[in-house]
Amino acid sequence: MFSPIRFVLNRQEIAAAEPPGMLVLDFLRRRAMLMGTKEGCKEGDCGACAALIGELRGGEARYTPVTSCLVPLGELAGKHLVTVEGLNMERLSPVQDAIVAEGATQCGFCTPGIVVSLTAQLMEKGASLTAEEVKYALSGHLCRCTGYASLKRAGELIIKDAAKLGSSSQSENIAQMITSGMLPEYFREIPERLRKIQSPASANGRQKPEVFIAGGTDLYVQRGEALPDMRVEVLNLHPEMKGISANEGEIRVGALTTFEEFAAHPLVREAIPEIQSYMHWNASWQIRNRATLGGNIVNASPIGDMTILLLALDSTLILKNGQKSRKLPLAEFFKGYKQLAKKPSEIVSEIVFPKPSPAARINFEKVSKRKRLDIASVNSAIKITARGRVIQKVNLSVGGVAPIPLFMRRTCEFLAEKEITPETVAQAAVIAQQEISPISDVRGSAEYKRLLARQLLFAHFVKLFAGYVNLRELFADL
Ligand SMILES: Cc1cc2nc3c(=O)[nH]c(=O)nc-3n(C[C@H](O)[C@H](O)[C@H](O)COP(=O)(O)OP(=O)(O)OC[C@H]3O[C@@H](n4cnc5c(N)ncnc54)[C@H](O)[C@@H]3O)c2cc1C
Ligand code: FES
Ligand code: FES
Repeated sequence: MFSPIRFVLNRQEIAAAEPPGMLVLDFLRRRAMLMGTKEGCKEGDCGACAALIGELRGGEARYTPVTSCLVPLGELAGKHLVTVEGLNMERLSPVQDAIVAEGATQCGFCTPGIVVSLTAQLMEKGASLTAEEVKYALSGHLCRCTGYASLKRAGELIIKDAAKLGSSSQSENIAQMITSGMLPEYFREIPERLRKIQSPASANGRQKPEVFIAGGTDLYVQRGEALPDMRVEVLNLHPEMKGISANEGEIRVGALTTFEEFAAHPLVREAIPEIQSYMHWNASWQIRNRATLGGNIVNASPIGDMTILLLALDSTLILKNGQKSRKLPLAEFFKGYKQLAKKPSEIVSEIVFPKPSPAARINFEKVSKRKRLDIASVNSAIKITARGRVIQKVNLSVGGVAPIPLFMRRTCEFLAEKEITPETVAQAAVIAQQEISPISDVRGSAEYKRLLARQLLFAHFVKLFAGYVNLRELFADL
Protein backbone atom coordinates (compact mmCIF):
# COMPACT_ATOMS: atom_id res chain seq x y z
CA MET A 1 0.00 0.00 0.00
CA PHE A 2 1.16 3.50 -0.79
CA SER A 3 0.36 6.55 1.30
CA PRO A 4 -2.34 8.52 -0.57
CA ILE A 5 -1.22 11.29 -2.92
CA ARG A 6 -3.56 14.23 -2.32
CA PHE A 7 -4.13 16.73 -5.07
CA VAL A 8 -6.88 18.57 -6.90
CA LEU A 9 -7.87 17.05 -10.24
CA ASN A 10 -9.79 19.69 -12.16
CA ARG A 11 -12.61 20.57 -9.70
CA GLN A 12 -12.27 17.63 -7.34
CA GLU A 13 -9.86 16.79 -4.52
CA ILE A 14 -8.33 13.33 -4.93
CA ALA A 15 -6.44 10.99 -2.59
CA ALA A 16 -4.82 8.53 -5.00
CA ALA A 17 -3.47 5.30 -3.52
CA GLU A 18 -1.65 4.33 -6.75
CA PRO A 19 2.16 4.01 -6.92
CA PRO A 20 3.95 7.37 -6.97
CA GLY A 21 5.92 6.23 -10.04
CA MET A 22 2.73 5.63 -12.05
CA LEU A 23 2.35 7.96 -15.01
CA VAL A 24 -0.14 10.79 -14.66
CA LEU A 25 -1.42 9.92 -18.15
CA ASP A 26 -2.16 6.32 -17.09
CA PHE A 27 -3.87 7.55 -13.93
CA LEU A 28 -6.06 9.90 -15.95
CA ARG A 29 -7.15 7.39 -18.57
CA ARG A 30 -7.21 4.15 -16.57
CA ARG A 31 -8.25 5.24 -13.07
CA ALA A 32 -9.94 8.63 -13.35
CA MET A 33 -11.49 7.62 -16.71
CA LEU A 34 -10.83 11.08 -18.12
CA MET A 35 -10.36 10.30 -21.80
CA GLY A 36 -9.87 13.86 -23.07
CA THR A 37 -6.14 13.52 -22.44
CA LYS A 38 -4.88 11.37 -25.31
CA GLU A 39 -2.13 8.79 -25.45
CA GLY A 40 0.00 9.22 -28.57
CA CYS A 41 3.75 8.61 -28.59
CA LYS A 42 4.14 8.27 -24.79
CA GLU A 43 7.64 9.73 -25.26
CA GLY A 44 7.03 13.47 -24.93
CA ASP A 45 7.11 14.12 -28.68
CA CYS A 46 3.49 14.62 -29.80
CA GLY A 47 1.78 16.72 -27.12
CA ALA A 48 -1.50 14.73 -27.27
CA CYS A 49 -1.30 14.14 -23.51
CA ALA A 50 -0.67 17.76 -22.48
CA ALA A 51 -2.10 18.83 -19.11
CA LEU A 52 -1.53 21.76 -16.79
CA ILE A 53 0.11 21.47 -13.41
CA GLY A 54 -0.63 24.27 -10.99
CA GLU A 55 1.36 24.72 -7.80
CA LEU A 56 1.47 27.30 -5.06
CA ARG A 57 4.26 29.81 -5.47
CA GLY A 58 4.32 32.94 -3.33
CA GLY A 59 0.74 32.23 -2.29
CA GLU A 60 -0.57 32.13 -5.90
CA ALA A 61 -1.31 29.07 -8.04
CA ARG A 62 1.12 29.03 -10.96
CA TYR A 63 0.41 26.82 -13.99
CA THR A 64 2.70 25.20 -16.56
CA PRO A 65 1.82 22.86 -19.43
CA VAL A 66 3.52 19.46 -19.36
CA THR A 67 3.36 16.16 -21.21
CA SER A 68 1.48 13.95 -18.73
CA CYS A 69 3.04 10.84 -20.32
CA LEU A 70 6.34 11.67 -18.56
CA VAL A 71 5.13 12.92 -15.16
CA PRO A 72 5.03 10.68 -12.06
CA LEU A 73 1.78 10.70 -10.12
CA GLY A 74 3.71 11.27 -6.86
CA GLU A 75 4.71 14.68 -8.14
CA LEU A 76 1.10 15.89 -7.97
CA ALA A 77 1.02 15.91 -4.16
CA GLY A 78 -0.33 19.29 -3.09
CA LYS A 79 -0.84 20.45 -6.69
CA HIS A 80 -3.67 21.14 -9.14
CA LEU A 81 -3.84 18.97 -12.26
CA VAL A 82 -5.93 20.44 -15.06
CA THR A 83 -6.99 18.37 -18.06
CA VAL A 84 -9.02 19.54 -21.02
CA GLU A 85 -12.17 18.55 -19.10
CA GLY A 86 -11.17 21.00 -16.38
CA LEU A 87 -11.18 23.86 -18.91
CA ASN A 88 -14.70 23.13 -20.11
CA MET A 89 -17.48 25.57 -19.30
CA GLU A 90 -21.09 25.83 -20.37
CA ARG A 91 -19.99 27.53 -23.56
CA LEU A 92 -16.73 27.10 -25.46
CA SER A 93 -13.67 28.89 -24.12
CA PRO A 94 -12.06 31.46 -26.48
CA VAL A 95 -9.36 28.89 -27.36
CA GLN A 96 -11.91 26.17 -28.16
CA ASP A 97 -14.05 28.69 -30.03
CA ALA A 98 -11.13 29.85 -32.17
CA ILE A 99 -10.22 26.27 -33.10
CA VAL A 100 -13.81 25.58 -34.17
CA ALA A 101 -14.12 28.89 -36.03
CA GLU A 102 -10.98 28.26 -38.08
CA GLY A 103 -11.66 24.56 -38.71
CA ALA A 104 -8.40 23.80 -36.91
CA THR A 105 -9.46 20.28 -35.97
CA GLN A 106 -10.47 17.22 -37.98
CA CYS A 107 -9.98 13.86 -36.26
CA GLY A 108 -9.51 15.81 -33.02
CA PHE A 109 -6.83 13.54 -31.56
CA CYS A 110 -4.31 16.34 -31.08
CA THR A 111 -6.92 18.98 -30.19
CA PRO A 112 -7.30 18.56 -26.39
CA GLY A 113 -3.55 18.88 -25.88
CA ILE A 114 -3.42 21.93 -28.12
CA VAL A 115 -6.33 23.55 -26.22
CA VAL A 116 -4.41 22.98 -22.97
CA SER A 117 -1.13 24.50 -24.24
CA LEU A 118 -2.80 27.51 -25.89
CA THR A 119 -4.82 28.17 -22.72
CA ALA A 120 -1.57 28.01 -20.74
CA GLN A 121 0.02 30.58 -23.04
CA LEU A 122 -3.02 32.84 -22.71
CA MET A 123 -2.75 32.59 -18.90
CA GLU A 124 0.96 33.39 -19.13
CA LYS A 125 0.97 36.27 -21.57
CA GLY A 126 -2.48 37.87 -21.27
CA ALA A 127 -2.89 40.92 -23.52
CA SER A 128 0.73 40.76 -24.67
CA LEU A 129 0.19 37.39 -26.44
CA THR A 130 1.83 37.40 -29.90
CA ALA A 131 1.74 35.12 -32.94
CA GLU A 132 5.31 34.05 -32.10
CA GLU A 133 4.18 33.01 -28.60
CA VAL A 134 1.29 31.04 -30.07
CA LYS A 135 3.88 29.15 -32.14
CA TYR A 136 6.00 28.67 -29.02
CA ALA A 137 3.02 27.01 -27.29
CA LEU A 138 2.38 24.78 -30.31
CA SER A 139 6.03 23.69 -30.48
CA GLY A 140 5.45 20.38 -28.69
CA HIS A 141 2.31 19.39 -30.65
CA LEU A 142 2.04 17.19 -33.72
CA CYS A 143 -1.10 17.33 -35.82
CA ARG A 144 -1.26 14.64 -38.47
CA CYS A 145 -4.44 15.56 -40.32
CA THR A 146 -5.37 19.25 -40.08
CA GLY A 147 -1.97 20.90 -40.22
CA TYR A 148 -0.85 24.16 -38.73
CA ALA A 149 -2.12 26.97 -40.98
CA SER A 150 -5.60 26.88 -39.45
CA LEU A 151 -4.10 26.64 -35.97
CA LYS A 152 -2.09 29.79 -36.63
CA ARG A 153 -5.28 31.52 -37.80
CA ALA A 154 -7.01 30.33 -34.63
CA GLY A 155 -4.06 31.86 -32.77
CA GLU A 156 -4.87 35.24 -34.36
CA LEU A 157 -8.43 35.03 -33.00
CA ILE A 158 -7.12 34.13 -29.54
CA ILE A 159 -4.77 37.13 -29.68
CA LYS A 160 -7.78 39.38 -30.37
CA ASP A 161 -9.60 37.93 -27.33
CA ALA A 162 -6.47 38.30 -25.22
CA ALA A 163 -6.59 42.06 -25.79
CA LYS A 164 -9.35 42.19 -23.11
CA LEU A 165 -6.90 40.98 -20.47
CA GLY A 166 -4.11 42.67 -18.53
CA SER A 167 -0.57 41.56 -19.31
CA SER A 168 1.16 41.58 -15.96
CA SER A 169 1.41 38.44 -13.87
CA GLN A 170 -0.03 35.03 -14.63
CA SER A 171 -2.24 35.19 -11.53
CA GLU A 172 -3.76 38.53 -12.61
CA ASN A 173 -4.37 37.17 -16.09
CA ILE A 174 -6.07 34.13 -14.58
CA ALA A 175 -8.31 36.33 -12.39
CA GLN A 176 -9.32 38.38 -15.45
CA MET A 177 -9.88 35.25 -17.53
CA ILE A 178 -12.28 33.95 -14.86
CA THR A 179 -14.13 37.28 -14.73
CA SER A 180 -14.43 37.41 -18.54
CA GLY A 181 -15.70 33.82 -18.78
CA MET A 182 -12.50 32.48 -20.38
CA LEU A 183 -11.71 30.09 -17.51
CA PRO A 184 -14.09 28.20 -15.21
CA GLU A 185 -15.04 29.92 -11.96
CA TYR A 186 -13.61 27.13 -9.77
CA PHE A 187 -10.03 28.28 -10.54
CA ARG A 188 -10.62 31.15 -8.08
CA GLU A 189 -10.67 28.84 -5.04
CA ILE A 190 -7.69 26.70 -6.05
CA PRO A 191 -4.96 28.55 -4.09
CA GLU A 192 -7.01 28.23 -0.90
CA ARG A 193 -7.73 24.55 -1.54
CA LEU A 194 -4.05 23.79 -2.22
CA ARG A 195 -3.02 25.51 1.02
CA LYS A 196 -5.20 23.05 2.94
CA ILE A 197 -3.63 19.92 1.44
CA GLN A 198 -1.08 18.17 3.62
CA SER A 199 2.70 18.52 3.22
CA PRO A 200 3.65 17.18 -0.25
CA ALA A 201 6.94 15.57 0.90
CA SER A 202 4.90 12.81 2.60
CA ALA A 203 4.12 11.42 -0.87
CA ASN A 204 7.65 10.00 -0.99
CA GLY A 205 7.87 6.60 0.72
CA ARG A 206 10.09 6.06 3.76
CA GLN A 207 11.99 3.13 2.22
CA LYS A 208 15.34 3.60 0.53
CA PRO A 209 14.60 4.60 -3.08
CA GLU A 210 15.77 2.54 -6.07
CA VAL A 211 15.57 5.52 -8.38
CA PHE A 212 15.40 9.31 -8.18
CA ILE A 213 12.94 11.00 -10.53
CA ALA A 214 13.42 14.67 -11.39
CA GLY A 215 11.49 15.83 -14.49
CA GLY A 216 11.15 12.22 -15.69
CA THR A 217 11.73 13.25 -19.32
CA ASP A 218 14.62 10.82 -19.77
CA LEU A 219 13.61 8.21 -17.21
CA TYR A 220 10.08 7.56 -18.48
CA VAL A 221 11.27 7.29 -22.07
CA GLN A 222 13.97 4.79 -21.04
CA ARG A 223 12.23 2.80 -18.27
CA GLY A 224 8.56 3.82 -18.36
CA GLU A 225 7.16 0.32 -17.88
CA ALA A 226 9.31 -0.49 -14.84
CA LEU A 227 8.96 2.70 -12.81
CA PRO A 228 5.46 2.17 -11.34
CA ASP A 229 6.73 -1.01 -9.66
CA MET A 230 9.90 0.57 -8.27
CA ARG A 231 10.60 2.47 -5.06
CA VAL A 232 10.94 5.97 -6.41
CA GLU A 233 11.90 9.25 -4.80
CA VAL A 234 10.20 12.18 -6.48
CA LEU A 235 12.86 14.86 -6.19
CA ASN A 236 10.46 17.64 -7.14
CA LEU A 237 8.89 17.28 -3.70
CA HIS A 238 12.10 18.87 -2.35
CA PRO A 239 11.61 22.59 -3.08
CA GLU A 240 15.01 23.39 -1.54
CA MET A 241 16.62 21.89 -4.68
CA LYS A 242 15.08 24.61 -6.86
CA GLY A 243 15.94 28.26 -7.32
CA ILE A 244 18.75 30.42 -8.67
CA SER A 245 20.81 32.89 -6.67
CA ALA A 246 24.08 34.82 -6.90
CA ASN A 247 26.68 35.06 -4.21
CA GLU A 248 30.37 36.05 -4.09
CA GLY A 249 30.85 36.07 -7.84
CA GLU A 250 29.03 32.75 -8.33
CA ILE A 251 25.69 31.77 -9.75
CA ARG A 252 24.08 28.89 -7.85
CA VAL A 253 21.39 26.86 -9.55
CA GLY A 254 19.26 24.24 -7.78
CA ALA A 255 19.54 20.95 -9.66
CA LEU A 256 15.76 20.77 -10.08
CA THR A 257 15.68 24.03 -12.01
CA THR A 258 14.01 23.38 -15.36
CA PHE A 259 15.37 24.55 -18.72
CA GLU A 260 12.55 27.14 -18.92
CA GLU A 261 13.17 28.45 -15.39
CA PHE A 262 16.91 28.67 -16.10
CA ALA A 263 16.47 30.58 -19.36
CA ALA A 264 13.88 32.97 -17.88
CA HIS A 265 15.87 33.96 -14.78
CA PRO A 266 17.30 37.52 -14.81
CA LEU A 267 20.66 36.40 -13.37
CA VAL A 268 21.06 33.81 -16.13
CA ARG A 269 19.92 36.21 -18.85
CA GLU A 270 22.50 38.70 -17.69
CA ALA A 271 25.24 36.05 -17.59
CA ILE A 272 24.29 34.36 -20.91
CA PRO A 273 22.56 37.02 -23.01
CA GLU A 274 21.51 34.62 -25.80
CA ILE A 275 20.15 31.93 -23.48
CA GLN A 276 16.53 32.27 -24.63
CA SER A 277 17.38 31.81 -28.29
CA TYR A 278 19.21 28.54 -27.46
CA MET A 279 15.95 27.20 -26.00
CA HIS A 280 14.28 27.16 -29.43
CA TRP A 281 16.62 24.30 -30.37
CA ASN A 282 16.08 22.34 -27.16
CA ALA A 283 13.01 20.12 -26.85
CA SER A 284 9.57 21.81 -26.68
CA TRP A 285 7.97 24.22 -24.22
CA GLN A 286 6.14 21.36 -22.48
CA ILE A 287 9.35 19.30 -22.09
CA ARG A 288 11.46 22.30 -21.06
CA ASN A 289 8.90 22.92 -18.29
CA ARG A 290 9.86 19.52 -16.88
CA ALA A 291 13.46 18.81 -17.95
CA THR A 292 15.86 19.73 -15.15
CA LEU A 293 19.50 20.72 -15.31
CA GLY A 294 20.39 18.02 -12.77
CA GLY A 295 18.60 15.37 -14.87
CA ASN A 296 20.42 16.49 -17.99
CA ILE A 297 23.76 16.08 -16.22
CA VAL A 298 23.07 12.76 -14.45
CA ASN A 299 21.50 11.22 -17.54
CA ALA A 300 25.04 11.65 -18.92
CA SER A 301 24.06 11.68 -22.58
CA PRO A 302 27.14 12.78 -24.56
CA ILE A 303 24.87 15.31 -26.33
CA GLY A 304 22.95 16.78 -23.35
CA ASP A 305 22.53 20.40 -24.41
CA MET A 306 22.51 22.00 -20.97
CA THR A 307 25.41 19.83 -19.83
CA ILE A 308 27.49 21.06 -22.77
CA LEU A 309 26.64 24.67 -21.91
CA LEU A 310 27.35 24.16 -18.20
CA LEU A 311 30.73 22.57 -18.99
CA ALA A 312 31.77 25.70 -20.88
CA LEU A 313 30.62 27.82 -17.95
CA ASP A 314 33.15 26.00 -15.74
CA SER A 315 30.47 24.52 -13.49
CA THR A 316 30.94 22.66 -10.24
CA LEU A 317 28.44 20.17 -8.83
CA ILE A 318 27.34 19.97 -5.22
CA LEU A 319 26.65 16.31 -4.45
CA LYS A 320 24.68 15.32 -1.37
CA ASN A 321 24.40 12.02 0.41
CA GLY A 322 22.20 12.36 3.48
CA GLN A 323 23.86 15.05 5.59
CA LYS A 324 27.21 14.81 3.75
CA SER A 325 28.02 17.05 0.83
CA ARG A 326 30.96 17.49 -1.52
CA LYS A 327 31.99 19.55 -4.54
CA LEU A 328 33.12 18.15 -7.87
CA PRO A 329 33.98 19.99 -11.10
CA LEU A 330 31.47 19.00 -13.77
CA ALA A 331 34.35 18.22 -16.14
CA GLU A 332 35.43 15.43 -13.72
CA PHE A 333 31.94 13.96 -13.31
CA PHE A 334 31.89 11.81 -16.46
CA LYS A 335 34.12 8.74 -16.35
CA GLY A 336 32.95 6.79 -19.41
CA TYR A 337 29.73 6.17 -21.32
CA LYS A 338 27.01 6.73 -18.66
CA GLN A 339 29.59 6.15 -15.91
CA LEU A 340 29.65 8.81 -13.26
CA ALA A 341 31.91 9.83 -10.39
CA LYS A 342 29.01 9.49 -7.97
CA LYS A 343 27.57 6.86 -5.64
CA PRO A 344 24.04 5.67 -6.49
CA SER A 345 22.74 7.23 -3.26
CA GLU A 346 24.24 10.66 -4.01
CA ILE A 347 22.08 13.36 -5.51
CA VAL A 348 23.21 16.42 -7.40
CA SER A 349 21.71 19.21 -5.33
CA GLU A 350 23.23 22.30 -6.97
CA ILE A 351 25.21 23.48 -9.95
CA VAL A 352 27.50 26.42 -9.34
CA PHE A 353 29.39 28.46 -11.94
CA PRO A 354 31.43 31.65 -11.79
CA LYS A 355 29.49 34.74 -12.83
CA PRO A 356 30.94 35.52 -16.29
CA SER A 357 32.97 38.75 -16.24
CA PRO A 358 31.84 41.59 -18.54
CA ALA A 359 34.77 40.67 -20.84
CA ALA A 360 33.55 37.08 -21.27
CA ARG A 361 31.77 36.04 -24.46
CA ILE A 362 29.61 32.92 -24.55
CA ASN A 363 28.17 30.97 -27.46
CA PHE A 364 26.26 27.70 -27.92
CA GLU A 365 25.80 25.86 -31.21
CA LYS A 366 23.80 22.76 -32.09
CA VAL A 367 23.34 20.78 -35.28
CA SER A 368 20.58 18.18 -35.38
CA LYS A 369 18.70 16.34 -38.10
CA ARG A 370 15.63 18.55 -37.51
CA LYS A 371 16.17 22.15 -36.52
CA ARG A 372 13.62 22.02 -33.68
CA LEU A 373 12.56 19.34 -31.20
CA ASP A 374 15.47 17.06 -31.91
CA ILE A 375 18.58 15.94 -30.08
CA ALA A 376 21.95 17.04 -31.40
CA SER A 377 24.24 15.23 -33.81
CA VAL A 378 26.96 17.50 -32.42
CA ASN A 379 26.66 20.47 -30.08
CA SER A 380 29.24 22.80 -28.61
CA ALA A 381 29.59 25.70 -26.20
CA ILE A 382 32.40 28.15 -25.53
CA LYS A 383 33.24 30.86 -23.03
CA ILE A 384 36.13 33.10 -24.02
CA THR A 385 37.63 35.92 -22.06
CA ALA A 386 39.86 38.12 -24.20
CA ARG A 387 41.66 41.42 -23.81
CA GLY A 388 41.45 43.05 -27.22
CA ARG A 389 42.71 40.43 -29.67
CA VAL A 390 44.43 38.31 -27.03
CA ILE A 391 42.68 35.38 -25.44
CA GLN A 392 43.03 35.12 -21.69
CA LYS A 393 40.97 32.02 -20.97
CA VAL A 394 38.84 29.62 -23.00
CA ASN A 395 36.39 26.92 -21.92
CA LEU A 396 35.25 24.80 -24.85
CA SER A 397 32.97 21.77 -24.75
CA VAL A 398 31.72 19.52 -27.55
CA GLY A 399 28.98 16.89 -27.42
CA GLY A 400 28.40 13.88 -29.66
CA VAL A 401 32.07 13.27 -30.37
CA ALA A 402 33.07 11.02 -27.44
CA PRO A 403 31.42 8.64 -24.96
CA ILE A 404 30.94 11.59 -22.57
CA PRO A 405 30.05 15.27 -22.87
CA LEU A 406 33.57 16.41 -23.63
CA PHE A 407 35.47 19.30 -22.08
CA MET A 408 38.18 20.10 -24.67
CA ARG A 409 41.08 20.49 -22.27
CA ARG A 410 43.94 20.43 -24.78
CA THR A 411 42.26 22.79 -27.22
CA CYS A 412 41.58 25.23 -24.37
CA GLU A 413 45.21 25.05 -23.21
CA PHE A 414 46.39 25.73 -26.75
CA LEU A 415 44.15 28.77 -27.17
CA ALA A 416 45.11 30.46 -23.88
CA GLU A 417 47.23 33.61 -24.39
CA LYS A 418 47.00 33.32 -28.20
CA GLU A 419 46.11 36.17 -30.52
CA ILE A 420 42.74 35.69 -32.22
CA THR A 421 43.54 35.18 -35.89
CA PRO A 422 42.24 32.78 -38.55
CA GLU A 423 45.52 30.83 -38.20
CA THR A 424 45.03 30.39 -34.43
CA VAL A 425 41.49 29.10 -34.94
CA ALA A 426 42.58 26.73 -37.72
CA GLN A 427 45.38 25.34 -35.51
CA ALA A 428 42.94 24.94 -32.61
CA ALA A 429 40.66 22.96 -34.94
CA VAL A 430 43.53 20.55 -35.69
CA ILE A 431 44.11 19.97 -31.97
CA ALA A 432 40.39 19.56 -31.38
CA GLN A 433 40.30 16.79 -33.99
CA GLN A 434 42.92 14.88 -31.95
CA GLU A 435 40.83 15.21 -28.78
CA ILE A 436 37.60 13.79 -30.16
CA SER A 437 36.67 10.19 -30.98
CA PRO A 438 33.23 10.18 -32.59
CA ILE A 439 31.50 6.99 -33.70
CA SER A 440 29.03 6.43 -36.52
CA ASP A 441 25.41 6.07 -35.38
CA VAL A 442 21.91 7.22 -36.30
CA ARG A 443 22.92 10.82 -35.62
CA GLY A 444 25.57 10.73 -38.37
CA SER A 445 28.82 9.11 -39.45
CA ALA A 446 32.02 9.60 -37.49
CA GLU A 447 33.42 11.58 -40.40
CA TYR A 448 30.39 13.90 -40.48
CA LYS A 449 30.63 14.52 -36.74
CA ARG A 450 34.33 15.39 -37.11
CA LEU A 451 33.36 17.90 -39.74
CA LEU A 452 30.64 19.35 -37.49
CA ALA A 453 33.01 19.67 -34.53
CA ARG A 454 35.35 21.74 -36.69
CA GLN A 455 32.55 23.87 -38.15
CA LEU A 456 31.08 24.60 -34.72
CA LEU A 457 34.48 25.73 -33.45
CA PHE A 458 34.70 28.07 -36.45
CA ALA A 459 31.13 29.23 -35.81
CA HIS A 460 32.00 30.23 -32.24
CA PHE A 461 34.84 32.48 -33.39
CA VAL A 462 33.01 33.92 -36.38
CA LYS A 463 30.04 34.83 -34.16
CA LEU A 464 31.99 36.15 -31.20
CA PHE A 465 34.93 37.80 -32.98
CA ALA A 466 33.53 38.76 -36.38
CA GLY A 467 36.00 41.66 -36.59
CA TYR A 468 39.03 39.37 -36.28
CA VAL A 469 37.95 36.11 -37.91
CA ASN A 470 35.76 35.57 -40.93
CA LEU A 471 34.68 32.45 -42.71
CA ARG A 472 36.46 33.20 -46.00
CA GLU A 473 39.84 33.45 -44.25
CA LEU A 474 39.15 30.34 -42.18
CA PHE A 475 38.42 28.28 -45.25
CA ALA A 476 41.25 29.73 -47.32
CA ASP A 477 43.75 27.09 -46.15
CA LEU A 478 41.39 24.12 -46.15
C1 LIG B 1 10.61 14.96 -26.44
C2 LIG B 1 11.95 15.17 -25.77
C3 LIG B 1 12.84 16.08 -26.30
C4 LIG B 1 14.08 16.26 -25.68
N1 LIG B 1 14.94 17.18 -26.22
C5 LIG B 1 16.12 17.41 -25.62
C6 LIG B 1 17.00 18.39 -26.14
O1 LIG B 1 16.74 19.05 -27.13
N2 LIG B 1 18.19 18.56 -25.50
C7 LIG B 1 18.54 17.84 -24.40
O2 LIG B 1 19.62 18.04 -23.85
N3 LIG B 1 17.72 16.91 -23.88
C8 LIG B 1 16.52 16.68 -24.47
N4 LIG B 1 15.68 15.72 -23.96
C9 LIG B 1 16.14 14.88 -22.84
C10 LIG B 1 15.70 15.33 -21.43
O3 LIG B 1 14.60 16.20 -21.48
C11 LIG B 1 16.84 16.03 -20.70
O4 LIG B 1 17.98 15.23 -20.64
C12 LIG B 1 16.44 16.46 -19.28
O5 LIG B 1 17.34 17.42 -18.82
C13 LIG B 1 16.41 15.32 -18.27
O6 LIG B 1 16.04 15.87 -17.04
P1 LIG B 1 14.90 15.27 -16.14
O7 LIG B 1 14.76 16.15 -14.98
O8 LIG B 1 13.68 15.00 -16.93
O9 LIG B 1 15.60 13.91 -15.73
P2 LIG B 1 14.95 12.51 -15.27
O10 LIG B 1 14.40 11.81 -16.45
O11 LIG B 1 14.07 12.70 -14.11
O12 LIG B 1 16.28 11.79 -14.76
C14 LIG B 1 17.35 11.45 -15.63
C15 LIG B 1 18.40 10.69 -14.81
O13 LIG B 1 19.01 11.53 -13.86
C16 LIG B 1 18.79 11.09 -12.53
N5 LIG B 1 18.61 12.32 -11.77
C17 LIG B 1 17.82 13.38 -12.11
N6 LIG B 1 18.04 14.40 -11.29
C18 LIG B 1 18.97 13.99 -10.40
C19 LIG B 1 19.61 14.64 -9.30
N7 LIG B 1 19.35 15.89 -8.98
N8 LIG B 1 20.52 13.92 -8.61
C20 LIG B 1 20.81 12.63 -8.93
N9 LIG B 1 20.24 11.99 -9.97
C21 LIG B 1 19.34 12.67 -10.69
C22 LIG B 1 17.61 10.17 -12.60
O14 LIG B 1 17.63 9.20 -11.58
C23 LIG B 1 17.82 9.56 -13.98
O15 LIG B 1 18.78 8.54 -13.91
C24 LIG B 1 14.43 15.52 -24.53
C25 LIG B 1 13.52 14.60 -23.99
C26 LIG B 1 12.28 14.42 -24.60
C27 LIG B 1 11.33 13.44 -24.02
S1 FES C 1 1.67 10.92 -25.58
FE1 FES C 1 2.91 12.02 -27.00
S2 FES C 1 3.74 13.58 -25.74
FE2 FES C 1 2.68 12.34 -24.35
S1 FES D 1 -6.78 17.06 -35.94
FE1 FES D 1 -6.19 15.01 -36.38
S2 FES D 1 -4.15 14.94 -35.62
FE2 FES D 1 -4.68 17.00 -35.44
